[in-house]
Parts: sequence; C-alpha cells; structure tokens
Amino acid sequence: MEPSPLEAWRDTLQELGVLGLVREPRPAPEPAPAPFRRTEAPRPQPAPSAPAPTRYEPPTDAVGCPPPGAVAGAATLADLEQAIQGCLKCPLGPGRIRFVFGEGHPAARLMFIGEGPGRDEDLQGRPFVGKAGELLDRMIGALGLGRGDTYIANVVKCRPPDNRTPLPEEARACLGYLHRQIELIQPAVIVTLGATPLRELLGVAEGITRIRGQWRQLELGGRRIPVMPTFHPAYVLRQYTQDVRRAVWEDLQAAKAWIDKAEA
Ligand code: URA
Repeated sequence: MEPSPLEAWRDTLQELGVLGLVREPRPAPEPAPAPFRRTEAPRPQPAPSAPAPTRYEPPTDAVGCPPPGAVAGAATLADLEQAIQGCLKCPLGPGRIRFVFGEGHPAARLMFIGEGPGRDEDLQGRPFVGKAGELLDRMIGALGLGRGDTYIANVVKCRPPDNRTPLPEEARACLGYLHRQIELIQPAVIVTLGATPLRELLGVAEGITRIRGQWRQLELGGRRIPVMPTFHPAYVLRQYTQDVRRAVWEDLQAAKAWIDKAEA
C-alpha cells in the first residue's frame, strides 16, 4: 500500500535526522490562585529587645560606700586601706576577687600609677605582679632601686572585667582614694603608666604616644607634684621595639634625675 502523503513526509524527515517529532509534554498548569479571602493583616510585633540594663545601686552603708570623711580622715595608708577595702561604690566592686590597694614604701619619692588590676593582681591583691609587673620591676631595678623603694598604685582598685579600660564613672568612684594615697605618700615625682592615669588624674586626653616624656604637674593638697607620663609596661611588652624601650628608659631616668636633684 502506498504511504499517505503525510507518512511520506514523516519518513523524509526521519531520514534527514530530524527526529524527536514527539509531542512535548505540556507544562503543568499553574495552580489556580486561591480564592480571594479577606484575612487579618498580621499585627506588627515589637522587636524583641534586650532586657533594660539595671542601674547599679551601690550600698549606702559605710563599708560598701565609705564616706568622704573616712577617706580624708585616714591618717595613714593602713587607715585608708582599712576604710576603703570593702568598697562597692561602682560595679567593679562586686566583681573583684581581691581589692588591690597598692603597695610600697609609705614615704616613697617615686610613685607609679597604672590603670587597674588585671587577673594576677585580682588573685593576689597586689599591683603589677603579672608579666607587666615583672617588666616594671626590671625597669625599677635598672634605676638602681628596688620595688619597695617606690610606691605602686592604680587608678581603680578592682579589676575591670576582661581587663578593659576602666569606665570614667568607675575611675571617678575611685579617684578620691588615689588622691588620699598621694597626699599621704607625698611622692617627689609620679610616673603615670599609659593613657588612663594621665586622663583620670590630670584630665589629659591626648594620646600617650604624643605626650610621653613631657613633664606635667598635679596640684593636690596644696602641693605641686611633677608627673612624668610614659608608656604602660603592657604596651612595651606588645611593642617590644628598641624605640619604645628607649623611650620608657629615658622617661624613667628623667624622673629619677629629678628626684636626685631635688634631694641633693
Ligand atoms: N596593669 C595595671 O595597670 N595595673 C596593674 O596592677 C597590673 C597591670
């Protein structure tokens, strides 16, 4: 039987390799849209917020919050330490392990003031006993002095969490204690270590890199005390370059020379 014209055309196409003359499956129809229904628009929910920080409320008793009279009235360093060692005036108080009052010669000519206790100091209740303290001891030794010839204190007496810089309000809560310490010791020269004591004690906000090695003055209790700003030993350990070490050494020598000259 003769193929129909349509079958002949199909065979020709197949010979030419044009295959696949199969019907493409039709795409599945789009699902019909859901019938329109009026629904309540979701009400905007307030974003979940962190619980409001509770303000630290210091205790009002004389142990947790030593009154200024007890500080000003302390006649010796031991009296002062006794009066303030239970201090809870700022949030650092409840977080401490040990109160780090400071230590050294009660009439030291040379006084060092650092920032605040770190982990080792918090554990031992003594200032500068960690790695930075070891370096400070070596620097004091290089001046021909022992640690016990000097006095070492900090801006804050309790360890800030994670060794962060003390907040201005924490430093402010502690500043009266440091002032009284200085009044009792009457050092000939103060060496501030790093930017924090310089800022909190003298209100100098300039970077320590710019200001180190330049004499400043602290007026306190009717006295003017020369202040030599230098780098913090922890910074020296991080930037252990000859330039940084030489800078600190020059600052310390200048402080020592001032004392030697004043007492010659
Ligand atoms: N750093 C400080 O500033 N003070 C210390 O007592 C120890 C480390």
